[in-house]
Amino acid sequence: MNKKQVAERIKKLKKLINHHRYLYHVLDKPEFSDAAFDTIKNELEELERQFPDLITSDSPTQRVGGKPLKKFIKVGHSVPMLSLNDVFGKEELKAWEERIQKLVPKGKSQDKPQGNLDYFCELKLDGLAASLKYDKGVFVQGATRGDGKIGENVTQNLKTIPSIPLNLRMPDKAELARAGFSAESFKKIKRAIEKGEIEVRGEAIILKRVFKELNESLKKDGKPPLANPRNTAAGSIRQLNSAITASRRLDYFVYSITTNLGQKKHHQEHLLAKELGFKTIEQNKQCANLEEVLGFHDYFDKQREKMPFEYDGVVAVVDEIDLQKKLGVVGKAPRWMIAFKFSPKEAATIVEDIKVQVGRTGVLTPVAILKPVEIGGVIVSRATLHNADEIERLGLKIGDSVIIGRAGDVIPNIKRVLKELRSGWEKIFKMPEKCPVCEKNVIKDSGGVILRCVNKKCPSKQRRTLYYFASRPAFSIEGLGPKIIDALIDNGLIQDAADLFELKEGDLIPLARFAEKSSANLVESIQSRKNISLPKFIIALSIQHAGEETAISLARRFGSLDSLKNASFENLESVQDIGPIVAKSVYDWFRDEYNKKFLEKLLKHIKIKSFNLVVAKKISAFAGKKIVLTGSLSSMAREEAKLKIRELGGDISSSVSKETDYVVAGEEPGSKFDKAKKLGVRILTEQEFIDLM
Ligand code: IVH
Repeated sequence: MNKKQVAERIKKLKKLINHHRYLYHVLDKPEFSDAAFDTIKNELEELERQFPDLITSDSPTQRVGGKPLKKFIKVGHSVPMLSLNDVFGKEELKAWEERIQKLVPKGKSQDKPQGNLDYFCELKLDGLAASLKYDKGVFVQGATRGDGKIGENVTQNLKTIPSIPLNLRMPDKAELARAGFSAESFKKIKRAIEKGEIEVRGEAIILKRVFKELNESLKKDGKPPLANPRNTAAGSIRQLNSAITASRRLDYFVYSITTNLGQKKHHQEHLLAKELGFKTIEQNKQCANLEEVLGFHDYFDKQREKMPFEYDGVVAVVDEIDLQKKLGVVGKAPRWMIAFKFSPKEAATIVEDIKVQVGRTGVLTPVAILKPVEIGGVIVSRATLHNADEIERLGLKIGDSVIIGRAGDVIPNIKRVLKELRSGWEKIFKMPEKCPVCEKNVIKDSGGVILRCVNKKCPSKQRRTLYYFASRPAFSIEGLGPKIIDALIDNGLIQDAADLFELKEGDLIPLARFAEKSSANLVESIQSRKNISLPKFIIALSIQHAGEETAISLARRFGSLDSLKNASFENLESVQDIGPIVAKSVYDWFRDEYNKKFLEKLLKHIKIKSFNLVVAKKISAFAGKKIVLTGSLSSMAREEAKLKIRELGGDISSSVSKETDYVVAGEEPGSKFDKAKKLGVRILTEQEFIDLM
């Protein structure tokens, strides 16, 4: 080959390599193997060695510079590199839109009704911003943001990133038409690639997988690990030896084209960038209104864990470029775009206690009781510690400050103990030797890691008591059925009924069936039952032999929980309809140590409505009256109606007689209705009954 032929061959090799780079790094569709690719690169290197004067700066062999730099040279940005204003919530985002809508001339700029702006939503990558300049299609300068006006020339480092083309790709007409560019723009773009300058901006990042691989190999070599992907990307660009940058295997994604190439919408810049040979984020999406922006944000908040790169929010961009110009810049940030950040998924708090929960199968699980803290928009007050080994692994003591995260962005867990913040008063925690619920001995299971209570009666009894506590005759907590109670117990979130009232929204989300909305609903539904009548409260305690009727008799006789609690056996026995067995059961219940503690705990959350029969009698239309119910009521269950009547001093009887004062007739009343008519007993419709109450 003579020199001319070599030059020709070099040109073709470079083109081939660049094309393959595009297929491999941008489109992710390699057409031949790495090995084949390497042999082609080797040939180019060999030819360049023979003819060094044929080496050009855009040759794929020039991705790694020769000697490390002494320092970076400053470069000015022709168009300033701005920053972004942040918002953290829906309301703030809406306020932003309202502000910009005021500046948008009505109906003019968009054919959409005012109130709906078109947006382009982008994932906000967490790396280092870099601007790339191409002169006649050749990469000539790459710079960091610096202060926005002047940055550092990091061309040599950026060249090591395979997803940055050293030569711009020349798209054809059809490709550009697909990206929404006219034939006119095609000429403009062609000219800019061949003769002019093109500047793009984007983010240099490191993929999570690559970051992990780097750290694994550092570990193998006994070297300290890199802190996180963001710092690794930024640090790798801002260091003087490009060989190190190359070893970090960075990536680069374009998010804007600064040069006017005929684009009318921002999203076209992304389409064009891809045609020019750059990588863009495929997930970015056009959104027709703010609702869709919110949807995009929420969806990708949840996807974070699964995605191959890190991002810390969504950038919402007003899509129409004319509109962008009208909106302009305030301070250092454009008005026409906003960073809608995700709420942080980690927070520091204090472990106030470690409690041991007993699951359905009797397994003892330590749970950290936290000073309530907000993580990712929900309040968290508990975090499972799994077992004693985990506590040891963390080195956790009671009273420690800790970092809480939501694993997989969902389940709260303790990530780290901040030992630096210890006061010396922290307490060592030890797993109990007896079951904390029934105080029976526990056995070691699964190679000594798991402790289990084998007392068959213990957890199941608790469980049944809890089912009843939440059910209609007792606290009547909507949405809290046995299945959910099981899940709460099995996940160590509650041990007894009092714990229910301490649950926070974020505690519930880990339960498979709970989305954030239903968690909020359940917490609200529990909290709404904090005021309760005395009979219902007594019913909820599951005192043996003390069912609904007994509870009402007790409430009527004693009026308050305090006097019931302190009532002597004789007093209890003297209550109408209460015999010695029931009296003893009630008497004993209030004297049991475990029950006493439970009651004390429960009463911290509960307010018992005073049950004053004298008052009830004076003011109630039902006081001292005999009432019969027939038919079904639409606004309440029959049991509820009965309870209300009794609370108001009335008596329920099951059959109509001359003595009956009222018959309450619901839908489809039975023979009692006819009898009442016959006897001339006053009949109340459901509404009249409610009014009288
Ligand atoms: S636009 C105003 N788009 O976020 C110009 N920036 O907080 C800002 N970033 O410096 C650039 N993803 O490093 C833009 N899709 C995206 C982005 C993005 C990440 C970074 C970029 C910028 C910073 C601003």
